[in-house]
Amino acid sequence: MAPSMGEVVNRSAVSRRTVGREVVDSWRLRRAEQVVLCAALGLVALWLPACGGDVPPYGPASSGAPGGITEDIVSLPEPRLRGPLSVEEALARRRSVREYADAPLTVDQLSQLLWSAQGITERRYGLRTAPSAGALYPLQVYVAVERVDGLRAGVYRYDPRRHGLELVLDRSVRRQLYRAALSQSALAGAPATLALAAVFARTTRKYGERGRRYVYMEVGHAAENVCLQAIALGLGTVVIGAFDDGSVRRTLGMRDDEEPLYLMPVGRLPSQ
Ligand SMILES: Cc1cc2nc3c(=O)[nH]c(=O)nc-3n(C[C@H](O)[C@H](O)[C@H](O)COP(=O)(O)O)c2cc1C
Repeated sequence: MAPSMGEVVNRSAVSRRTVGREVVDSWRLRRAEQVVLCAALGLVALWLPACGGDVPPYGPASSGAPGGITEDIVSLPEPRLRGPLSVEEALARRRSVREYADAPLTVDQLSQLLWSAQGITERRYGLRTAPSAGALYPLQVYVAVERVDGLRAGVYRYDPRRHGLELVLDRSVRRQLYRAALSQSALAGAPATLALAAVFARTTRKYGERGRRYVYMEVGHAAENVCLQAIALGLGTVVIGAFDDGSVRRTLGMRDDEEPLYLMPVGRLPSQ
């Protein structure tokens, strides 16, 4: 028989009391654990300011250092998904820019540029901002940092999975890069230069010789993303294809199976 409204109210009152008692009992049981936890948290609170004082926010460091850095990976700020320009405005304004203001980039700007080139936008399959034949992702992005706030000059490798930077060379390579790119002045004045490289075998293993064509198409997609992202950030860039492959590879400490395809110096517009 269906319970009356009074019975329903009473049963629910009993179950509320029972549940309430269980909650109180389990809280009492866990009280000792909570005391231990509070003591531990207190110790951590005392320890943190003492060890974090002189660590730069994004500088490469040895493993376990605070400030978003682990195993020589510099964590980058999360990419922003909203900006001040429409895609149409960015397309209309895109122009090759070869001269830059004498000012550093911010790490937020660098993070955004790297993300636009090869950032992961879908976690399940690791799909990225730029399309890739067979989702094989043969591209590798490097950045030669000259002047970026909070980052030491050097060469870094972008890790899309962690949205972070792995230190490759701990020194400025601006002059060597300038010479490797046939003394093009854009490379001498840029606070940072992105280098898009490819491991062709990742794609040719599946698609044979035709895979080479796919890789060239992909680097175009990634580079155009960077061009448009730069404009949306009020920055200028140019795609550079005229350089000595071997010199660029050596200068940037690229791996043997990586071929440099594009250099993209980037900086603030001279008028800023
Ligand atoms: C494959 C390719 C290679 C290029 N290489 C260079 C280069 O080595 N140096 C350079 O200053 N510009 C280079 N550019 C940029 C072109 O000179 C530029 O896109 C063209 O002059 C049109 O101007 P815009 O980009 O302002 O529309 C290259 C462009 C492409 C597509």
